Amino acid sequence: MKGVLICGGSGTRLRPLTEVTNKSLLPVYDKPLVLYPLQTLIDAGIKDIIVITGTEHIEQMASFLGSGTRFHCRFSYRVQDEPRGIAQALGMAEEFVDGDNVCAILGDNIYFDHLGKQLQNFKKGGHIFLKEVQDPERFGVAELKGNRVVSVEEKPLKPKSNLAQTGCYVYDSRCFEVIRNLQPSERGELEITDVTKWYMEQNELTATILQDQWIDAGTFESLHRATVEVRARRKGAAEKARNAGVQMMEKAVNGKR
Ligand code: G1P
Repeated sequence: MKGVLICGGSGTRLRPLTEVTNKSLLPVYDKPLVLYPLQTLIDAGIKDIIVITGTEHIEQMASFLGSGTRFHCRFSYRVQDEPRGIAQALGMAEEFVDGDNVCAILGDNIYFDHLGKQLQNFKKGGHIFLKEVQDPERFGVAELKGNRVVSVEEKPLKPKSNLAQTGCYVYDSRCFEVIRNLQPSERGELEITDVTKWYMEQNELTATILQDQWIDAGTFESLHRATVEVRARRKGAAEKARNAGVQMMEKAVNGKR
């Protein structure tokens, strides 16, 4: 499976932070945001990754991420001249993906679940990751009947559920033909939700509901929340390791008595 890391868009909701810096390079606690979705791909064993970003940001992205060697990956880059949607960005990866299956992930999405199992078991069709949210109208929204996705809508005024379609999409290589036939939405973009919808209509769409937290860090509030969450987890892990160390030490000392 190939990976597509989509770091496009102009980050308007994060101005002036994004006036010169790509949203995905903003800090989340101790790392640039992009390293979190990149880690999600790496954890799933994906090593061949194409990074797609706008003309104004390609230099800083490439200068930070490099060839991929330090992440034990191989990176390629493509420029999206104008922000015309996530599906358009994915479409630019066709040659790179070269008939393989593909996992596209957004450069501002942070997952705390491990997606490796679903990605490694994926054979054909489409697979999406859903998360219950308070404000579904901000996202693509999926409606489930049992385990089946029966509708997906991009930012609906009246959401049919509170399940957001998060920014990680797993498709087989037919997605590129679907993208070629897409029409731009009212906001002038090729919508990734329409690609997902195609797989749903073929009865080939499966979905996972995320159990842990998921953050789309595209607003001041969510970017801040991401930092708070990552910090809390890092401190918690450090505390746990310290306690385990103390326990081991006590055991060793007591054992000698
Ligand atoms: C995009 C997608 C939307 C998805 C969201 C996840 O929204 O269009 O379906 O729920 O990412 O982060 P955007 O970031 O373009 O508003």
